[in-house]
Amino acid sequence: MKNGTDFIPGLEGIVAAETKLSHVDGRAGKLIIGGFALEDLAANATFAETVYLLWHGRLPNKTELAAFTTEMAALRPLPDATLTLLKSVAAEKAPVMDALRIGAGTLSLDVTEAQLPLAIIARLPTIVAAYWHLLHGRTPLSPRPDLNHAANYLYLLTGDIPSQAKVRGLETYLNTVIDHGLNASTFAARVIIATGSDMVSAITGAVGALKGPLHGGAPGPALDTVFEIGSPENAERVLRAKLAQGERLMGFGHRVYKVRDPRAEVLAAAAEKMFAADGNIALYNLAKQVEATAVILLEEHKPGRNLQTNVEFYTALLLHGLGLDTDLFTPTFAISRAAGWIAHCFEQQQVGRLIRPKSTYTGSTNRTWRPLQER
Ligand code: COA
Repeated sequence: MKNGTDFIPGLEGIVAAETKLSHVDGRAGKLIIGGFALEDLAANATFAETVYLLWHGRLPNKTELAAFTTEMAALRPLPDATLTLLKSVAAEKAPVMDALRIGAGTLSLDVTEAQLPLAIIARLPTIVAAYWHLLHGRTPLSPRPDLNHAANYLYLLTGDIPSQAKVRGLETYLNTVIDHGLNASTFAARVIIATGSDMVSAITGAVGALKGPLHGGAPGPALDTVFEIGSPENAERVLRAKLAQGERLMGFGHRVYKVRDPRAEVLAAAAEKMFAADGNIALYNLAKQVEATAVILLEEHKPGRNLQTNVEFYTALLLHGLGLDTDLFTPTFAISRAAGWIAHCFEQQQVGRLIRPKSTYTGSTNRTWRPLQER
């Protein structure tokens, strides 16, 4: 930066926070979460353990985890006002992310400020599942305090107690996407909380930021390509045709990772386990084949650019394997990332400083005022 007034589009390369929560090393393809390599944490921890880790800076012991999960489970039911509001939103057939943003804004109604962070984590899945049923003309189910966070979410969506394989698959996904440096929604949450505003405002703003297709809003299309290909022998022909038409292959390439996204690795392993135990392993094998072909063709298409699989590819496969409709992919991402947003809010509150960058004025300076009747 030459002087303090240089404009950096997108704030690229600007360090705007210090964090102990996660570290993204785009060159090495490494992601550290709460001090652990992603691959060590994601497939082993329950989501509640990972939330505790980020909020407390260490893993809980047995007693701490039991208290944390019991308290969280008790907070799952929604205030009546939230359900009433969601019914009105469903009547308008609003997208699920809009319902989540509207519903999230009500979550402070019946809890204390101290309960609020846990209430948000406990209740976002209840909002998504309740809204999903309302949208389809059904009555929402009541949360099950005897099920863990991931199992309860799947139960609320489907009405069935999910298999262990599915619960593990979802826990691994939730752990994998819980935090990712100073991404756009996390930055939005930090900006809001840094004004001295409250947690619900920060999380509501972050949901709005996550909704955009440039951030969390486009995981479906990667799966559409796999379905379009249908069978391994079609992979090369279909992918070549897409590239020849100037299309981007969805689920490949990343702004930060210049090698394979480590989250793709972890989610691919989780998907394989889940599909092998409880799912359509042929679909998983097809996706692997599509991935391998895409990486070869992308190297041919952009030699040396190293366009590799990103998080979206296996997110789509895993969430589809869990029985989730594509409209639920981004809301499910939000359910996890909210825990990261809250952890960042805690950190930002410790910093206690307003985030207030500058802008460069590019407008005119020599206008002369003319009264309305003269214009
Ligand atoms: N398929 C085909 N070509 C791709 C590509 C893809 N998935 N990703 C990048 N490229 C090409 C670009 O067209 C560009 O070519 P050009 O130099 O001739 O213009 C070159 O590779 C570099 O692309 P660029 O847009 O500068 O890369 P980026 O690192 O800034 O972009 C993405 C990152 C994610 C926007 C981009 O890879 C992409 O659009 N991927 C597909 C969408 C997707 O999977 N999104 C989810 C991201 S988590």
